[in-house]
Amino acid sequence: MSVESQPVRASDLKAALPPHFYASPEVFRLEAERIFHRQWFAVGRTEQLPARGDVLVVEVAGESVIVVRGKDEALAAFYNVCRHRGSQLVREPPLPDADRPKARNSGRASGAIVCPYHAWTYNHDGSLRAAPFVQFDDACPKGKFSLTPVALETWGGFIFLNLSREAPPPFEDQLVKVKRMLGRYPFADLRRGAQLVYDVAANWKVLMENYNECYHCGPVHPELCALVPAFREQGGAGLAWEDGIPHRPGAWTFTASGTSTRAPFPGLSEAERTHHKGEIVYPNLLLSAAAEHIAAFTLWPTAPDRTRIACEFLFHESETSKPGFDPSDVVDFWDVVNLQDWRICESVQAGMRSRGFRGAYYAPMEDASMDIRRYRETHLGDLTAIL
Ligand SMILES: [Fe+2]
Repeated sequence: MSVESQPVRASDLKAALPPHFYASPEVFRLEAERIFHRQWFAVGRTEQLPARGDVLVVEVAGESVIVVRGKDEALAAFYNVCRHRGSQLVREPPLPDADRPKARNSGRASGAIVCPYHAWTYNHDGSLRAAPFVQFDDACPKGKFSLTPVALETWGGFIFLNLSREAPPPFEDQLVKVKRMLGRYPFADLRRGAQLVYDVAANWKVLMENYNECYHCGPVHPELCALVPAFREQGGAGLAWEDGIPHRPGAWTFTASGTSTRAPFPGLSEAERTHHKGEIVYPNLLLSAAAEHIAAFTLWPTAPDRTRIACEFLFHESETSKPGFDPSDVVDFWDVVNLQDWRICESVQAGMRSRGFRGAYYAPMEDASMDIRRYRETHLGDLTAIL
C-alpha cells in the first residue's frame, strides 16, 4: 500500500472490473461454481448448534445445506436434499434471517432427520435409518441412500463449508493470513452477544471493495473518523493494518465513547489493547477486531445485485456470561457505520447500471480493493474473452 502524503497522480488510477461483472447472472453463476462452492465458505458459529441433534439450514450461493450436531457431538453437513425424490429435508428459510427470532436460529431434530414428503428418515451421520414400506437388501443396501455430505471444518468457533465436487483445497491455506494478523485474539472463547442482518442491494464484490479501503471513510463515516482520525488522514492511505490503527486520544475500542466497561481480551499485545485491526478470510468472512469485541461479517451472495450480510458481535465468554451483559454500545455504533456503508454500496450498484457509466477506477490508496480483482482472477481466470 502506498504511504505518500501528497496527492496521488490521476495517471496512477487503475481500471476496475467491467461494469457487467457486477450485475451479470452468468458471472454470478461462475463465481458461485468456482469461488463460493469451491472455496471454504464461512456459515456461522459452532455455538449456533449447542446440543446434540441441533440443525442449522444455510444457503451457500443458491445451494441449501444442513449442518447437524450428531451423536458424538461432532458437526457434519449434508445437502438439504432427500435421496428419494429430491425434496428438501428442512424447509425453514435459510440463515441468516433477520426476521426470525434468535431462539429459532438453531432447530432441534428429534434424533433423526425426517423427510416431510415420504418420511424417509436419516441418522445425524447422514445414513438412511428407514424408509416406510421399503425393504433394503444386499442387492440394494440402505448404504446406497445416505445423504450427500458437504465438507465441514471449524476454526476459532467459525463453521466453514466446502461444496466442491472435487477434493477441497487445504482449509489451512485460507487461514494463513488471518492467523498471522489476528493470531492473539481468542476467537474460540468468543460468544455471540448480538447479531444484525442486512439485505443489501449490491454485488458482493462492491461490498468487499468497500471493506478493503478507507478512501471513503472521510466522506461517508463522520462518526467513525471522529473515533479513528487516521481513517480520514491522507485519504485512508498508509494505514498500518499489521500493527492496528490507533483511536483518538483516550479511546481504545469501537464504541461511540471509545471506551467500554468490558475488559480487553486476554493475550493481546500492548498495541492490540488500544488499536483497531481488520482482516478478510476470503471469500466471505470479514473480521473487524477491537480490543474487547470482534465484529464478524459474513457475506451471503444471493443474486448478482443482492447480498445478505450477517454481522455477529463476538465478546469474550467471561463477559457474555455476566448478569446484565449489554452489547448495545457496540451494536449501536456499528449499525450506524454499517448502514452508511451499505447505502453507499447500493448507490454504486445503482450508478453502475447507467448507460452513461464507462467503468470504474481504483485510486492508489484503494490498492487493497484490487485484492478482490486479483482474488477473482486467481479463481476464475480472465473471463473478459468469454463474456
Ligand atoms: Fe466504510
